[in-house]
Amino acid sequence: MKNTKMIHFKDITDVHNQTRPMGHLTPIESAIDVPFEIKRIYYLTKVPENTTRGFHSHRELQQVLLCLNGSVDIEISTPDEKEKITLNNPAIGLYIGPMVWREMSNFSPGSVLLVLASEHYAEDEYLRDYDDYLKKATLYFGEKE
Ligand code: TYD
Repeated sequence: MKNTKMIHFKDITDVHNQTRPMGHLTPIESAIDVPFEIKRIYYLTKVPENTTRGFHSHRELQQVLLCLNGSVDIEISTPDEKEKITLNNPAIGLYIGPMVWREMSNFSPGSVLLVLASEHYAEDEYLRDYDDYLKKATLYFGEKE
């Protein structure tokens, strides 16, 4: 889908000289493992069952979403595409670039959704009205093609 992609991070399970299972280690380096400088991180925890969040797009912000524990469904869409992705692997992230509408649902109990972002928080960078988003995104993607 436009302006989105899955990113498979390193999933390191071998620790030198250890033969027993030692768990998983995933490193994420700014501008190396993600396609932007990370200026902000935030995370969602203790989201009650049947709660949906998101319902917005960003004008320019780039983000990577990772579910560090449990699972979360992310529905992403542009004016002419829609996809639902289940995040449930802490070594696989969803990159979301500009002008993509997102809705998050089905947070499993204990789930932790980590977000890496390319810019500091700015409310005027959000598009929260869906009709307004559709107009601006249609122009944005139209001009890109
Ligand atoms: P919002 O991005 O709307 O959350 P979601 O899409 O997950 O439902 O943010 C919820 C509130 O938190 C909103 O009042 C803005 C505030 N907020 C910050 O102050 N800083 C941040 O970095 C983020 C992401 C949100």
